[in-house]
Amino acid sequence: MEDWGYKTIVEPFRIKSVEPIPILDATARLRALERAGHNLFKLNSTEVTIDLLTDSGTGAMSAIQWSALMQGDESYAGSTSFRRFESVVRRLTGYPHILPVHQGRAAERILARTILGPGRIVLNNTHFDTTRANIEQVGGVASDLPVPCALEPELEDPFKGNMDLDALDRALATGGERVALVMMTLTNNAVGGQPVSMGNLQAVSERCREAGVPFFLDAARFAENAWFIHTREPGYSDWTLPEIARKMFDLADGFTMSAKKDAIVHIGGILATRRDDWADLFRNELILGEGYLTYGGLAGRDLECMAVGLEESLDPHYLRYRTRSIAYFAEGLQKAGFPIVRPPGGHAVFVDAGRLLSHLAATQFPGVSLANALYLEGGIRSVEVGSLMFPEARLQLLRLAVPRRVYTQSHIDYVLEVAQRVVARKAQIPGYRIVQEPPFLRHFTADLEPLHRPSGWRLEPES
Ligand code: F0G
Repeated sequence: MEDWGYKTIVEPFRIKSVEPIPILDATARLRALERAGHNLFKLNSTEVTIDLLTDSGTGAMSAIQWSALMQGDESYAGSTSFRRFESVVRRLTGYPHILPVHQGRAAERILARTILGPGRIVLNNTHFDTTRANIEQVGGVASDLPVPCALEPELEDPFKGNMDLDALDRALATGGERVALVMMTLTNNAVGGQPVSMGNLQAVSERCREAGVPFFLDAARFAENAWFIHTREPGYSDWTLPEIARKMFDLADGFTMSAKKDAIVHIGGILATRRDDWADLFRNELILGEGYLTYGGLAGRDLECMAVGLEESLDPHYLRYRTRSIAYFAEGLQKAGFPIVRPPGGHAVFVDAGRLLSHLAATQFPGVSLANALYLEGGIRSVEVGSLMFPEARLQLLRLAVPRRVYTQSHIDYVLEVAQRVVARKAQIPGYRIVQEPPFLRHFTADLEPLHRPSGWRLEPES
């Protein structure tokens, strides 16, 4: 695929339908943040100008997806929408057993409840938090084996999402029979949306085969991963994206997928395998918790949108724009003085908030401080990935996730302008303390308060 040849990132779509975004003055933002217990999860969407909380379920569907929605066959069993969905997934992945689920974590729950149990080990480059929680819920042990460079934010490496193969060898040897499954999360969200190379996937797949351990993908961002293999890994520049994706899926025995990411739907997911014995177990569990085999936890219309979204996700013009616009955002933040996780990943820019706000200790939640400063300054919502989310976190990061096909370059330019203003008075940004927290997953609902009221905060007169 030859380069576009121009610096400007032309969004490879035009806008057919628009949605106004809320614009609040500084006083209204401060009031909203106080009402939300200084926790951006608890804001109303009407209080957010640019929402970079997540890229999950927040994408803009295409005109073809919206019209496919009207083709939805809502028959309880055997719907044409399921057949269409199944044939697209089969063409893309080659898997014989394809189950629709309402979102990624439903696939993870079925997997955990059918093939795991107390003491059973799952090895992963890095588990996403819902994957880990579902494994631990049934008494399993979720073990992360990222490559060491994934923990060095500034280090440049094309495939920081890879699994540490030496660590895998050791874990397979010591875990023995207790190792129930190896997973690879594509891209590796927790370490910065970093991709996994085909070489690493092949090496992991071979080791699993030798050890007799099943190998699954968490394929939520498989298309962005395929693009990085195409552009960064020697030997793949001549391959089409569907060929690369197919090879990735060929290396595994099954996959879970949240279709709310690369498949650009508002709800949906997939659980698939080539193992007949496991497929039977999955089907029973699907019917118990999600719904009949031909709809999972979804409506027929959702299956139609997923089928179209999966095909659109591998469009090279779209993926070039997608990854280039994330890189543009990352470069702008760096120019503004934000230390970021290098190189930029596929769906988000991760900022090293601990380094930017070096006057704050990890226990003062610098990621929360930076998130709240960006909100107060410009109505931008992001998410802390540090000590509030994971009390043992080694890095204090802030994730700015970019919804797919939603924001234009000028929205991003606005965020960069806000970032510059925040950097200019970073020394005054306060740390936070927790006022109230729930027993688990505290970042969603905890209330916090600033350690001091930021001085010199620019409050515009109310209009
Ligand atoms: N796997 C990965 C790698 C994810 O990033 C997510 C969700 C899931 C599984 C679970 O899928 O939400 O459809 O149940 N990630 C979102 C995020 C929530 O913001 O990164 P789900």
